[in-house]
Amino acid sequence: MRKLFLITLALTATQALSKNTVPPSSPELITKGQAVYKANCAVCHGDTGDGNGPAGSALQPKARNFISEKFKFGSKPEQVFKLIATGSKNTSMASFQHLPEPDRWAVTYYVLSLKKK
Ligand code: HEC
Repeated sequence: MRKLFLITLALTATQALSKNTVPPSSPELITKGQAVYKANCAVCHGDTGDGNGPAGSALQPKARNFISEKFKFGSKPEQVFKLIATGSKNTSMASFQHLPEPDRWAVTYYVLSLKKK
């Protein structure tokens, strides 16, 4: 009985941890995110993030302009992070879940850093 209790406790703790692991942004993370972006995202979202990459402007819907457009699925880091993992249904925005998690956080903060203040 006691063993079961301990297992439950451990599971709950692990779940709580994985829900709260939004890493803080940093200049290093954004620089790393820029490299991830150039390699995986710029072809559609454009070198500057304006949505006019060689494969982006002709899409329907167009690739998001990160500088001036609103995010449909929210612009909190955890929301952008999630969208990058799931992709956007019925659009060319595919899932990038195959990228390592640290790279996805890095590119999340890079994309958010492009927004015109
Ligand atoms: C094949 C083209 C393509 C590539 C490559 C691509 N995207 Fe997208 N992306 C799109 C399109 C098209 C949309 C618009 C989807 C929509 O309107 O729902 C989009 C939308 C988005 C959005 C905005 C979603 C919202 O809430 O409005 C984010 C964030 C995003 N992409 C991040 C990325 C990141 C990060 C990468 C690289 C890891 C990437 N995309 C690579 C085509 C692409």
